[in-house]
Amino acid sequence: MPAAGRGVRLGAGTPKAFARLHGRPLLWHAVGGLLGSGCVDRVVVAVAGSDRVLAATALDDVTERVRIVTGGTERSDSVRAALEAVTDADIVLVHDAARCLIPPSVIRSVVDAVRAGHRAVVPVLPCSDTVKQVDDHGTVITTVDRAVLRVAQTPQGFDADLLRRAYATGGGHATDDAELVERLGEAVTTVAGHPRAFKITTPFDLAVAEAVAGAP
Ligand code: C5P
Repeated sequence: MPAAGRGVRLGAGTPKAFARLHGRPLLWHAVGGLLGSGCVDRVVVAVAGSDRVLAATALDDVTERVRIVTGGTERSDSVRAALEAVTDADIVLVHDAARCLIPPSVIRSVVDAVRAGHRAVVPVLPCSDTVKQVDDHGTVITTVDRAVLRVAQTPQGFDADLLRRAYATGGGHATDDAELVERLGEAVTTVAGHPRAFKITTPFDLAVAEAVAGAP
């Protein structure tokens, strides 16, 4: 679980994973969501080195199923660090701490799809907005056909060996993990995501999360 982002856009005065939602850190909600899904054995959390004690305190009620490692400069550096701590798993999920309201049904459908033989699985939503491609000046180049677009969420599920290979050879910057698998030329399968799996990035997102948390 990458949780080492600084949360500049959230502006909470604390790293995003430690911003509070109904009195608890986002990290606590996110880890609890995974462990409570019934299909996740252990969670490796990547946080900034200076936040390891804070993370251990936030997660002290689930400590035996959680390992904390030091993340990196980019999200992919944090995922790589967490992946290196998972040497024996056959299936690995990568889940953003910032998507802490993920419904368990989505987690289960990702795991089920990997177990069914899909080696890389991404939960997605349709793109409901019209999307414009623009140039450096903000002038529209073209309107992209939104019917073929999907918004990618997490957890993204992988055959662990494939994800290790993607991180070993995929290289470079990526904003999600499936992109590194795509670079290998391997198939990435989609399953239905959920609006509650949205990523908390801005103060508006946190207000939305406060409003919907606890709703059925
Ligand atoms: O920056 P972004 O919103 O894409 O971050 C998505 C997730 O990746 C968040 O949970 C954040 O904490 C994590 N992240 C990380 N290490 C970084 C940057 C982001 O673990 N260097």
